[in-house]
Amino acid sequence: MEFPRSFVWGAAAASYQVEGAAFLDGKAASVWDMFCRKPGAIRNGENGDVACDHYHRFKEDVALMKQIGLKAYRLSIAWPRLIPAGTGKVNPKGLAFYEALVDELLSAGIQPYVTLFHWDFPYELYLRGGWLNPGSPDWFAEYTQVVVDRLSDRVQHWMTLNEPQCFIGSGHKDGEDAPGDRLGLSECLLAAQHALLAHGKAVQVIRSSARRAPAVGIAPVGVTYLPATDSPADIAAARQVMFAVSRKDFWNNTWWTDPIFFKRYPEDGLALFGDAAPAYTDRDMETIGQPLDFYAANIYNGYYVRAGVDGKPEPTPYPTGMAHTAYPWPVTPQALYWGPRFFWERHHLPVLITENGLANADWVALDGLVHDPQRIDFTARYLAALGQAIRDGVEVAGYFHWAVMDNFEWTYGYLLRFGMIYVDFNTQQRLLKDSAHWYATVIASNGSNLPG
Ligand code: GCO
Repeated sequence: MEFPRSFVWGAAAASYQVEGAAFLDGKAASVWDMFCRKPGAIRNGENGDVACDHYHRFKEDVALMKQIGLKAYRLSIAWPRLIPAGTGKVNPKGLAFYEALVDELLSAGIQPYVTLFHWDFPYELYLRGGWLNPGSPDWFAEYTQVVVDRLSDRVQHWMTLNEPQCFIGSGHKDGEDAPGDRLGLSECLLAAQHALLAHGKAVQVIRSSARRAPAVGIAPVGVTYLPATDSPADIAAARQVMFAVSRKDFWNNTWWTDPIFFKRYPEDGLALFGDAAPAYTDRDMETIGQPLDFYAANIYNGYYVRAGVDGKPEPTPYPTGMAHTAYPWPVTPQALYWGPRFFWERHHLPVLITENGLANADWVALDGLVHDPQRIDFTARYLAALGQAIRDGVEVAGYFHWAVMDNFEWTYGYLLRFGMIYVDFNTQQRLLKDSAHWYATVIASNGSNLPG
């Protein structure tokens, strides 16, 4: 099948996971630089001090992206590289790096899609309360202004926050990600509200200051539920669960996206959280609810649901022995059918898959190449499902494979390899995996060589 002619074929990475140069050229610590130094926090005590050394090797990396034929690259900007203290003085060398990276991408014919925040919060601001501080939305707006003033003549595609479900849920409630706090529900909900306000203020800055017409979104986790069968009852059950807040945690869609798209918290979440929910005003919701141009979602897999007695949604277990990745995450290609379809039906905005991919047990084979048939098969299946969603009327703007290159996979360090480009972390040598060559054929044929 042909994908739309305007379909954006991309790949993604994030500043802390690839850049390295963690304390070089004026960059100050992020909460991830701090968290990696907590004993036991990261596998093998690894950290992002060097990572893929993308800070120094970005021209080589862009050349490899060009070799693959990427139309776009989703990068994130490290806030403490641009503004070391988080507010105030700007680091010129930090700005120079991102200008050079954007210029290199554009000269290679690759559109930069910029995520403003992919978890590397300035440590200085964390010491001032971090997302709990009511000033944090304005801190983020100030940082956004610096980025937009310098890059918006060349960057037109913006995402504000990556996966607030993770940096609030895992980072502030469960303590499994940076900054590693284990706060109470009401404090986490307050931090979440500040993050949502930060998103809204950043959109306002982009809309008012961008020098080229911007397209703006946010990149939440696309928490996806899949109907156990294609029966209308099962589909309704999956949709109902997908847009519900049913647990006192942050792993949902609507606590985050209803304020953004409907200027209100979901009633079920307010009822569930009760007094733990933060106070807010209509003005807060007006700020958070700035119009967006696309619905971005990071989707890796989904959970099966069927309609039980009287249609009540019932989770259904994964079949014993079903395919799993090296993480191990379940392989559920239909997540890239139902996720986009349900989001499209609810928001009627073009859906952008900002992350999808897998950790795979990749290594350099005896022939000196990296053969990753699982990544090819996984991605072919997921893209075929995405193609079916498009055929069924869902407007999908593009697909960013996670990840362009192997990188620092947070608390797993360098164990889990997500890249289409293999990185030898000892020599910093790069090597296109078989999947990179395969993805190049998919892009060149605009998806027509995919199954289905
Ligand atoms: C996420 C982050 C990425 C991860 C990727 C694999 O979704 O958790 O956006 O930084 O590395 O998803 O876990």
